[in-house]
This record gives sequence, structure tokens and C-alpha cells, in this order.
Amino acid sequence: MIISPSILSCDFGNIERDTKMLDASKADWLHIDVMDGVFVPNISFGFPVLEAVRKSSKKVLDVHLMIANPDNYLEAFKNSGADYLTVHYEACTHLNRTIAKIKELGMKAGVALNPHTPVNVLEEILPSLDLVLLMSVNPGFGGQSFIPSTIDKVKKLKDLISISNSNVLIEIDGGVNLETGRQLSDAGADALVAGSFVFNSPNPTQTIAELKDL
Ligand code: DX5
Ligand code: ZN
Repeated sequence: MIISPSILSCDFGNIERDTKMLDASKADWLHIDVMDGVFVPNISFGFPVLEAVRKSSKKVLDVHLMIANPDNYLEAFKNSGADYLTVHYEACTHLNRTIAKIKELGMKAGVALNPHTPVNVLEEILPSLDLVLLMSVNPGFGGQSFIPSTIDKVKKLKDLISISNSNVLIEIDGGVNLETGRQLSDAGADALVAGSFVFNSPNPTQTIAELKDL
């Protein structure tokens, strides 16, 4: 299981300390949530924070764009250090072009789906993707409860991926803890994002190790 702790729940006054803690942990990726107050009803942070994380981390940076018009910023995210760049299906009118551009810039390309969006909308584009991010909460905030129907969605996506003969990773984001993580692992998820469960635990390093063992 790939574990991608979300820095949205870190202490931003001590971001270097928290990033170094994650870097020394068993986390595989660091999940970076960018929110613009338009696509989602919240604003998080932008390029300077991503650049600061890039400077103090050697991990893969897994950047989740919850923004309108992501096409305008793809190159800037590459220059700020993104390794995986994930855009929302619901924010992209010309998704095929957006994905091609992300790959042309040398990043891995992901598409995120909101909880209400069915997985079959990705049927045509799956072979071009490196990652599908299924939202298991409505995007915009950390600390929300896991939407249980996500489990079925993972199974459906897994079937679509095997039919399309592609090598796409399935990542889940929102309300992940040891209990939901176990269900997601059984359903076939490859990567788990965890924010509040990691940062609100008494020992985040150990919590990451426990998630890693799922
Ligand atoms: C929500 C973000 C998530 C968030 C997850 O919009 O995309 O990545 O950080 O937080 P938890 O794990 O607390 O649900
Ligand atoms: Zn996210």
C-alpha cells in the first residue's frame, strides 16, 4: 500500500519540522491539497508552500488540484516540484488535452472524481492515466467522515482498469483511518491519503507505519 499523508493537516507554523518528520517516516508520497475557493468552498495554499515542501523533502510529491482552470497552472506546478499532478474531472472540459500536457511536462498524470461522479466517465481516458483519485468525502476540508459507497466504486474502477489492460493506480482521499483503510485495501486500492488521522494521532510516524502495513 502506498501511503500519502496530507500536509493539509500539518502545523503550518512548523511546516519544515512536519515535512522532515514525514520524510523520515514510512510514507511513500506527500499529498499536497491545493484549493482555490472557486472549485471548492475553501482556500488552502499555493506555490510558495509547495516549493517549501519540495526543498525539505525527498519524497514523491502527490499534488491534488482542487481548482478551476487547472490548465493555466500546469507548468507552474511542474516548476514548483510536483511529481504527480492530479486534476478534477469536474474541472476539465478538455481532459484529454490537460492530461497530455501534464505528461509532456514530465509529470505523472492523475484524475480525481468527486463522490457523485461515476467511474465509467473515465473509460476512454484510462489508458492515458497514471492515477485515479477517488474522493471519499466532498473535497474542501480535512477531517470529514468517509462515504461508504466508495468501497463499491473502488471495485468498479478496478474492473474497468483490468478490462482496459492499463496500469493505473487507484488512490483514495478523505476519511481514511485503519478501519476504512483495511476495507479499501481489500477492495483493491493502491494508495491511501490520510490527513487528520495521521496528524491528530499521538505518534504520526507510528500511525503511518500502521497504515503502511494494511
Ligand atoms: C479534502 C482533501 C484531502 C484531505 C483529507 O478535500 O483532498 O486530501 O486532506 O483529509 P482527511 O484524511 O482528514 O479526511
Ligand atoms: Zn486531497
